[in-house]
Amino acid sequence: MDKKERELVFEKAKAFVNEAGQQIREKIDHPRTIETKSNANDLVTEMDQKTEEFFAESIRDEFPEHKLFGEEGFGHDIKDLNGVVWIVDPIDGTMNFVHQKRNFAISVGVYADGVGEIGIIYDVMQDVLYTAVRGEGAYKNEVKLAELTNQRLLVQSIIGLNTTWLIPENPYVNHNKLLDLVKKIRSTRSYGSAALELAYIAEGVMDGYLTMSLMPWDVAAGKIIVNEVGGLVTTADGKDIDMLNRTTMLASHPRIHSEVIRNFVELKK
Ligand code: IPD
Ligand code: CA
Ligand code: CA
Ligand code: CA
Repeated sequence: MDKKERELVFEKAKAFVNEAGQQIREKIDHPRTIETKSNANDLVTEMDQKTEEFFAESIRDEFPEHKLFGEEGFGHDIKDLNGVVWIVDPIDGTMNFVHQKRNFAISVGVYADGVGEIGIIYDVMQDVLYTAVRGEGAYKNEVKLAELTNQRLLVQSIIGLNTTWLIPENPYVNHNKLLDLVKKIRSTRSYGSAALELAYIAEGVMDGYLTMSLMPWDVAAGKIIVNEVGGLVTTADGKDIDMLNRTTMLASHPRIHSEVIRNFVELKK
């Protein structure tokens, strides 16, 4: 994707996100149709679906040759990242959307032949837009975010961590090592939107985020934004993220990344 095309797609993507966000804000107090997906706590609403449908139509109208990889099934059947693929989570943090009416985001990552070109995370209720264009740094609204240099030591760090991974029976990771991590660091946070947690790392207000289960649309935009400020986004054992399949993830500033992997993550499989 050349610079001119990148700029055009970026402007359109921001316009779609702003329009979708406005629709969600206007209807935040409307009655909801809430269904469940993989289990009783895996929620989806008519607004998740309508928002993704809006992206599907908008992308098709403006960029008919582009493809959509989205959570709610309005996109293409994506088997590879050839060409331009928009990886969209229409509402990241649906449980927060339903229960709290805040702390959820629209997440849009645009990839060209597998390379992350544009990342947008929109905190809908706060009206805060995090963006990045490859090679041009990252922004919170109009303010450029600082490079993640000279960051905190692990003992001073706040790490995003869901308590799920501390339960002994969790099938993914040695919970005892994670308990050691919790004891070592300053504190943990769980915001309930992977996209926002990535945005907070880019902003430098959180030091890391460790999770054992994400889908590509949870991480696609955030990875680009975090990378643009010099942060690292890998699997929980330090490998490249597979943007087509479920993945583990450790995102952090560079100072703590390898230390967390080396001393505190032992995957079960
Ligand atoms: C979820 C959120 C949550 C994370 C889950 C995701 P959704 O996305 O990002 O923070 O822990 O793994 O599935 O379903 O609300 O879009
Ligand atoms: Ca979901
Ligand atoms: Ca999500
Ligand atoms: Ca979602």
